[in-house]
Amino acid sequence: MCGIVAYLGKKAAQPILIEGLKRLEYRGYDSAGIALLGGGAIRIKKTGGRIASLEQILDEADPAETFGIGHTRWATHGRPNTVNAHPHADYTGKIAVVHNGIIENYGTLKTWLANEGATFTSETDTEIIAALIGYFYAKCAEDEAGILHGNQNKFEWSVQRALRELHGTFGLAIVCSDFPDLLIGAKKGSPLLLGLGENEYILASDAAAIVEHTTQAIYLADNEMVTISPEGFHTKTIDNITVTKDLQQIEFSLEQIELGGFSHHMLKEIFEQPRALATCMGGRIDPQNHRIKLGGIASYLRELTRTKRLILTGCGTAFHAALVGEFLFEQLARIPAETEYASEFRYRNPIIEDGTVVIAISQSGETLDTLAAVEEAKERGATVLGVVNVVGSAIARATDAGVYLHAGPEVGVASTKAFTAQVTVLTMLAIELGRRKHISSDQADGLTDELACVPEKVDVILEQSERIRNIAASNIDRDNWLFLGRGFNYPVALEGALKLKEISYIHAEGLPAAEMKHGPIALIVDGMPAVFIATAGPQYDKILGNIAEVRARGGTIIVVATEGDENIASVLGPTDHLITIPEAPEHLQPILTVVPLQLLAYHAAVLRGHDVDKPRNLAKSVTVE
Ligand code: AGP
Ligand code: GLU
Repeated sequence: MCGIVAYLGKKAAQPILIEGLKRLEYRGYDSAGIALLGGGAIRIKKTGGRIASLEQILDEADPAETFGIGHTRWATHGRPNTVNAHPHADYTGKIAVVHNGIIENYGTLKTWLANEGATFTSETDTEIIAALIGYFYAKCAEDEAGILHGNQNKFEWSVQRALRELHGTFGLAIVCSDFPDLLIGAKKGSPLLLGLGENEYILASDAAAIVEHTTQAIYLADNEMVTISPEGFHTKTIDNITVTKDLQQIEFSLEQIELGGFSHHMLKEIFEQPRALATCMGGRIDPQNHRIKLGGIASYLRELTRTKRLILTGCGTAFHAALVGEFLFEQLARIPAETEYASEFRYRNPIIEDGTVVIAISQSGETLDTLAAVEEAKERGATVLGVVNVVGSAIARATDAGVYLHAGPEVGVASTKAFTAQVTVLTMLAIELGRRKHISSDQADGLTDELACVPEKVDVILEQSERIRNIAASNIDRDNWLFLGRGFNYPVALEGALKLKEISYIHAEGLPAAEMKHGPIALIVDGMPAVFIATAGPQYDKILGNIAEVRARGGTIIVVATEGDENIASVLGPTDHLITIPEAPEHLQPILTVVPLQLLAYHAAVLRGHDVDKPRNLAKSVTVE
């Protein structure tokens, strides 16, 4: 996601745009830019880096320039640099846009537009939006009889005509130098609202950029657009059908708005997971033919199919995602896989034979241990692929190729949506490799369809947040917890323990459930919380046995089970707790079973009064050794 601000009014636009972008910087911060309209031209200023870097290159604000658009970026297509920063203009320079979202068919459109004579300067998907509007606008200019646009404004018609070609998501602010007092906004899948001030309008991605000017706003719905001029505004669908919008009162405080009404970024990001996973899979899973396409590593699929050794590496949560990946690649594609802590791998004089492929996993793409492991693997001749969230980050640039998570910025130090997105990417890859090597096409199709349904299943789990808070509350005084799982849920047990440790400061240990009897069971004392993942699967009965072992020694059981499980209640006592997840194939369960554990950790930390988003001694990205 990113931040969009546009202003049309009587005041100097520049300071309003900059202040608005600063309010939205939590939505994206890798590059920024503004476009101002005055004297019949569009003046664009943009740069890599944060908004402070943009301020360095701006001229003194001109009070006569009372109309402009601005953007603070979270890159999805194209490195976070000046060329790829927004606003983007068409090759005539008449059209400029700022965009929040992903245009999935941008490649096809870019090729077609180039064949029609368009030229491009950036690597982004956004630039094709400006080019497409410019293309139709030029057609209007040729259409002297006005057949194309009738009595509709040419600029507005061109925008509508272009938007109907786009697949994907957009929140847009669009300007045209021939109409220096006309601002167009359009929305599909990304937020956009219009603040209505005294003879001034502010279009933005969210209310944080608007509230200091006005609390009166209209919220666009998908496939709607708004055309704004000093005389007023009108709202239509992108099919040119007039719509009436109700005026809303913005009631949130600024702080609440930046958090989207959530108490902490971590909770917001936990609840963003359905959308983040849908975006992660968007344009990659084709529901019609049940196929998965990971464009970033398409040219490496053959090598991956043939590799005799796949090494996955990362740190912390990313290591846990890698471990899920190991099990998926072995089970679905029968590819020998192993998972290494990046910090160990880089110093262990690793054996890398010909044909070894290394997959490095990292949310930030800046973790020094993981970056060093990438360099080590490359020096020893491995092909190195990345699964990274931050576009253009060091690890993304160091790998031979990779797949971006498209999970949006993750601000909370405790990683949540990045973990589920990492596992989702690894699952997509394992299914596609499995289709080529081991599982039947029907099995691959079935898993693909089930994976596409995961976001709505996460939604179902999130509805239990209050119940999970109560479970945390009844165990909050315990200083030692166990997390136990088997198979695909063993890495989830490790992740659950890490979440609890790093934000509630409660000591927790994650381990394979069967390992308990080899020592850790000595830890069980009356009331000690033991969190079990006992979802439907081949080891379900074994897990029930492990639960009984802990109950027999007085432990308190917190169990994550599958909805409709009629056996689980028989092994739980009156002080034990049950959390359920919707039914899913065992291969896909980690994306679901982790969510209750994220919420358990979050609520425990809040109940213990800790700073959830900035836990003591931790940093969001560990760029030191
Ligand atoms: C996870 O909640 C922690 N913040 C930490 O373990 C993190 O996963 C680890 O430092 C790796 O970070 P990365 O994914 O940005 O490389
Ligand atoms: N896809 C666009 C880009 O990569 C917009 C990304 C965003 O929403 O921040 O520039």
